[in-house]
Amino acid sequence: MTANNERADWWKQAVVYQVYPRSFYDANGDGLGDIKGVTERMGYLRELGIDAIWLSPFYPSPLVDGGYDVADYRDVDPRLGTLEDFDAMCAAAHEAGMKVVVDIVPNHTSTEHEWFRAALAAGPGSPERDRYVFRPGRGENGELPPNGWKSTFGGPAWEPVGDGEWYLHLFAVEQADLNWGNPDVHEDFKKTLRFWSDRGADGFRIDVAHALAKDLDSRPLADWPDDPDQGEPGDDNPLWDRPEVHEIYREWRQVFNEYEPARFAVAEAWVVPEHQWMYASPDELGQVFNFQLSNAAWFADEFRTAIEKGLAAAEQSGSTTTWVLSNHDMPRHPTRFALPQVRSSVHHQLVTDWLLRDGRTYHEDRELGTRRARAALLMELGLPGSVYLYQGEELGLFEVADIPWGALEDPQALMTTHGDAIKGRDGCRVPLPWRAVDESGDFGFSAPVEHEAAHLPQPEWFAQFAVDVEEANTASMLWFYRRALGMRSELLTATGDTSLAWAGGYGDQVIAYERPCAGGRTLTSVTNFGEGPVALPAGEVVLCSSELLAGRLPQDATAWVVR
Ligand code: GLC
Repeated sequence: MTANNERADWWKQAVVYQVYPRSFYDANGDGLGDIKGVTERMGYLRELGIDAIWLSPFYPSPLVDGGYDVADYRDVDPRLGTLEDFDAMCAAAHEAGMKVVVDIVPNHTSTEHEWFRAALAAGPGSPERDRYVFRPGRGENGELPPNGWKSTFGGPAWEPVGDGEWYLHLFAVEQADLNWGNPDVHEDFKKTLRFWSDRGADGFRIDVAHALAKDLDSRPLADWPDDPDQGEPGDDNPLWDRPEVHEIYREWRQVFNEYEPARFAVAEAWVVPEHQWMYASPDELGQVFNFQLSNAAWFADEFRTAIEKGLAAAEQSGSTTTWVLSNHDMPRHPTRFALPQVRSSVHHQLVTDWLLRDGRTYHEDRELGTRRARAALLMELGLPGSVYLYQGEELGLFEVADIPWGALEDPQALMTTHGDAIKGRDGCRVPLPWRAVDESGDFGFSAPVEHEAAHLPQPEWFAQFAVDVEEANTASMLWFYRRALGMRSELLTATGDTSLAWAGGYGDQVIAYERPCAGGRTLTSVTNFGEGPVALPAGEVVLCSSELLAGRLPQDATAWVVR
């Protein structure tokens, strides 16, 4: 076990690896990754040097939204395995010294959930309907939606059920929003938290944590603007980041504290940075995703601001912050860094447009993207707080931009129409390549020789990034991740000291900071965004993301120097 994981508050400085189970490793050959697949690859994960595995949803689900449409919160999807498989996976992770984090989706259930079926059957005004957000439609016979709210995935956020009532779905039509004003909902989620904690889960990732509390009654629904902006804070937003949401998490904290060590949770809350810390406070979830790094385009000032904001949020919450470069909801970062760089406010659109045109509109400079991804990783790993990695980033995978429309699975793509819309998030969810040469044509994603096709098509170029190829080449991204994670653990996490000081004197194209490190020494992390190489401080260069140029740090590179 890593020194970090021996601490009760291990999650404050952990490296957490996100597994998107359907695309990780397929043990049974049905073309979908599964829980056994995770167990079979536990050795790979241990060697990588992570502290914890976070699994995206593996519950029974019609898979309208990659499993974020949950039909039963306390079971495993039969296509992904059984509860016994989960127990075995958890035991194997613990045995290997790693923690397990599971995903909780409390804002909405699948419309296949038994509660939703009961709500439809029971009709207007019933206690069954009160667990969801049903409202009468407007117009003579309720033929118009209660108001003009839009779903995050496109189209209206209300769906009629044929008896004059409509239900709210902030995401896909098949994801009905729960009513957190209803006590059954509270009780059921506490039961779910205990269920997985009892089975060995060490923590939870809370999906769209900022949406649970809603105000639908303080004024007529039709008076709200059509598009309450997610980023806008305040009591005046009926849907997002309402103050009452924190009462729910204070209630959950009581449940987490029933366990030894206390469980923790990390909130996915897309709120203004000034509000983030509340979700993380010790009487609530403990941690919140800080997406600042993943939002930054490749400019020194954007990364510096991102780091400053993350550190400030950590201080405010009395917890630690988190650092994220990629996850299952965004284009992979080596691709983001390989495309032309414009300010982050417009870079997201540039990447979205590029994807929409199957990756043809701009040149993706992969060598540059890889170089920057290596530099970004070291810059990130040196920071105090937890780092969340996304499966495949240790292989340096790029976004798959040219998945044919007919093969896409993401509701973001399917709820919009070709040409005017977005292609969605499938490009970062393509099944991992484990073997470069594999006659059965899925880069070793499925264990059995005879198997179904992988659920999303893999491009030819995945061969270069296959695990076996990278294993055999110590200059690969995989080995770079292993070395960097090992050093973070040995030099930084082991000390338990979370302080950071900016190192001055390098100019505005460099990000340099100092951390106390093992042996009473100091580690300086230096990242050079500028054209000219920069001189490094005196000391031993223990790791560098690129070759030094006559002892100096070249552009788009990070070095760790210890003295
Ligand atoms: C979160 C998940 C995303 C999902 C959405 C709705 O943002 O990360 O994948 O589509 O919630 O559940």
